[in-house]
Amino acid sequence: MAGTRAPIRLALLFGGRSTEHAISCVSAGGVLRALDRDVYDVLPVGIDLAGRWIVLPDDADALAAAAEQLPEVTAAAGRQVLISADPTASRLAPRDQTAVVRDTFGDIDVVFPLLHGPFGEDGTVQGLLEMAGLPYVGSGVFASAAAMDKQHMKALLRAAGLPVGPYAVLRPGQSLSEAERERLGLPVFVKPARGGSSIGISRVEAWDDLDTAIKTARANDPKVVIEAAIVGREIECGVLGRLDGPGPEASLPAEITVDSPSGFYDFEAKYTSGQTRFDIPARLSPAVRQRIQDVAVAAFESLDCAGLARVDVFLGPDDQIVVNEVNTMPGFTPTSMFPRMWEASGVSYPALLDRLVRLALRDGAGLR
Ligand SMILES: Nc1ncnc2c1ncn2[C@@H]1O[C@H](COP(=O)(O)OP(=O)(O)O)[C@@H](O)[C@H]1O
Ligand SMILES: [Mg+2]
Repeated sequence: MAGTRAPIRLALLFGGRSTEHAISCVSAGGVLRALDRDVYDVLPVGIDLAGRWIVLPDDADALAAAAEQLPEVTAAAGRQVLISADPTASRLAPRDQTAVVRDTFGDIDVVFPLLHGPFGEDGTVQGLLEMAGLPYVGSGVFASAAAMDKQHMKALLRAAGLPVGPYAVLRPGQSLSEAERERLGLPVFVKPARGGSSIGISRVEAWDDLDTAIKTARANDPKVVIEAAIVGREIECGVLGRLDGPGPEASLPAEITVDSPSGFYDFEAKYTSGQTRFDIPARLSPAVRQRIQDVAVAAFESLDCAGLARVDVFLGPDDQIVVNEVNTMPGFTPTSMFPRMWEASGVSYPALLDRLVRLALRDGAGLR
């Protein structure tokens, strides 16, 4: 049937209300550039910082990060729309109409929610798409919510027998007890429970600095996670669903070496060049590499992830593995770790996108 297949109508959702808005825009630029227009009829839908949904022109260049400015979705750049939670209605209706207009933008076959952080990667948008009956790329409501929340992610990983470092959780008004300080030891990492891109995270080397770090984390999330610092190499591993068999598969792992003033992989080190070295693939013995891949697949399955995830681990001096986190919508520019790890594993960026969309179409919305 080659050549006669109708194009797949794909809505690319990006931007969003989280602090990772700009990162999502840059990822969307990469995806727009790579999607084959013979196969995909692409509808770019940006969500601005206020949460407005805007249908934008199909223009990858508008979303590239310029040296002087990070990209941002603005309402003036396109047409504001509403998504309907009624699967029998038009799924995207123009905002300026009081009546729902059918097929204003044509029907949508699949959504790629390329959103990071809260209101995007955390099950909220996934729930909306489920209500609308739209298949979408990536994890469902539960896995998205579970992976976003560092407290519950750790609990699920641990329940599956996976190695997780010592940690404590502070809800609003709570402070870290003496006993907890003793158990965790210094240094500790203080994090918003539901965050990303290292925003709001501090490394604390003296207990006198703890309160400031908690305040910084709480500015992003009322719930805070405090972790013992893990000594080890930072290794990431991509996990991808399979079209032709059961269970997901793992990419070759990659290593991140950071030389940042903060001493960890902070926002600066993630997005401004020069402070970070990426080894793709990581230099690992075959046995250790296999163990990391097994842990990554097990972590993916322990949270019931779907489609894709990036599993980040620490590899200790005696080759012991500690899982740091599972990202259900990892950075997706062509130079982001996830696509590059798959590239090194023999899956090109366009092939990766293709596989994710086909997995979404295969699995549909609803229980999967
Ligand atoms: N327990 C820890 N021990 C050592 N380093 C850590 C620890 N937790 C976080 N880090 C450092 O902080 C970075 C960001 O933390 P992470 O939990 O991955 O947050 P985010 O979800 O924002 O990416 C990590 O990549 C790592 O460099
Ligand atoms: Mg991380």
